[in-house]
Amino acid sequence: MSRVVLFDELGGPEVLRFAELPTPEPGAGEVRIRVQAIGLNRGEARFRDGGYWYDATLPASRLGGEASGVVEAVGPGVTEVAPGDAVSVLVIGPVMSTQGVYGETVTVPVGSVLRRPADVDPVTGAALWISHLTAYGALVEVAGVRPGGTVVVTAASSSAGLAAVQTARHLGAVPIAVTRSPDVKGDQLRAAGAEHVLAAGDDLADRVRDLTAGRGADVVLDAVGGPGLTALALAVARGGVLVVYGWLDDRPMPMPRNWPLRMYGYAVHLVVEDPEALRRGQDFVLAGLRSGALTPVIDRTFGFDDIAAAHTYLEGNGQVGKIVVTVP
Ligand SMILES: NC(=O)c1ccc[n+]([C@@H]2O[C@H](COP(=O)([O-])OP(=O)(O)OC[C@H]3O[C@@H](n4cnc5c(N)ncnc54)[C@H](OP(=O)(O)O)[C@@H]3O)[C@@H](O)[C@H]2O)c1
Repeated sequence: MSRVVLFDELGGPEVLRFAELPTPEPGAGEVRIRVQAIGLNRGEARFRDGGYWYDATLPASRLGGEASGVVEAVGPGVTEVAPGDAVSVLVIGPVMSTQGVYGETVTVPVGSVLRRPADVDPVTGAALWISHLTAYGALVEVAGVRPGGTVVVTAASSSAGLAAVQTARHLGAVPIAVTRSPDVKGDQLRAAGAEHVLAAGDDLADRVRDLTAGRGADVVLDAVGGPGLTALALAVARGGVLVVYGWLDDRPMPMPRNWPLRMYGYAVHLVVEDPEALRRGQDFVLAGLRSGALTPVIDRTFGFDDIAAAHTYLEGNGQVGKIVVTVP
C-alpha cells in the first residue's frame, strides 16, 4: 500500500486528501518509483482549482507534474532504467489525473522518466526540470536568444522566471527581471543573475527602453498576461518577440496593437513531447547544472503530510523560487 494525494472536486488546497492505495505492479512499458521529493508548480494549483487549460478527471484525480525518486520495479519491455536507478519524473498534460506524482509510490510510463545523475540530490532532481526545460524551450528553441540580447522576464521570482533569468544570463544575454515586489525580492533576483530589477506597471515599456538605449527588449517572456500585456508588447524591440507562457493575472489579455509584433503562445510541451528537443533540453540543463550556471533556487521545503499547506504557501506569492515537498 502507498499513500497518494487525490482530489474529488475543484477548489482550494483543502480539496486535497490522502488515500492509501495498493501499490500496483508496473505493466508493459511502465516503471514504479519510490518518490523522494516533489517539485510544486503553479499549473498544479490551477489544475486543482479548474483554472488550467486542460481539465482534471473527477472524482479521485491525482495531481503532480514532477518528482524525483528511485526505481523500485520495471514492467515488461523496459530497458531504459532498472531497479535502484535514481530518476526524475515529468508528467505533463491531462494524464496528470491518472499519473500525477503526488504520492509515496507512483507508476508511470517509462517515457516520463529521466535519469538522475548520481550527484543530483532528490530535492534538486524534483525542482529542475519543468522550470528549466520551460526556460530552455522558450528562450533557445522559440526565441533564439543571442549573446548581448536583452531578455525581460516577468513573474521573475517564480521558479520558471528564475530559470529564465539564469538561462538568459548563461546564453550571454542581459536579463531584466520584473516583479510586483522589487523592494522585497530585488536582492534575491539580482543574486540569481538579473542585471536589472523593475517593478511591474504601466510604465514598464519606458523603463525597458531607458535601459536599452531606446531600442526595447529582444525578448519579453511573460507568465502574467492580463491587461499588463499591452505595456509588455510596447517593450519589445522591432524584430523582437513576445513569448507568453502563463496567465497569473486571470483578467482578459488585450491583443496588443503595436504591430509589427511577433507573439508566441508557448508551452513546455513543445520540448517534452519532441524527443529531439527533449534531448537537447536535457543536455543544455545538465551542462548548465554541472557548470553552476543553472541551479534551481529552492525557496522552501515542506513534508508530505503538509502538501495542502505547501499549495497555500505557493498561492500566497511570497516565494522566490521553487517549493519542494519531501517524501519520507
Ligand atoms: N506554459 C508552460 O509550459 C509553463 C511551464 C511552467 C510554468 N508556466 C507558468 O509560469 C508561471 C509561473 O509558474 P511557477 O510554477 O514557476 O510559479 P510560482 O513559482 O508559483 O510563481 C509565483 C510568482 O508569480 C508572481 N505572480 C503570482 N500571481 C501574479 C499575478 N496575479 N500577477 C503578477 N505576478 C504574479 C509572483 O511574483 P511577484 O510577487 O514577485 O510578482 C509569485 O511569487 C505560471 O503562470 C505557470 O502557469 C507555464
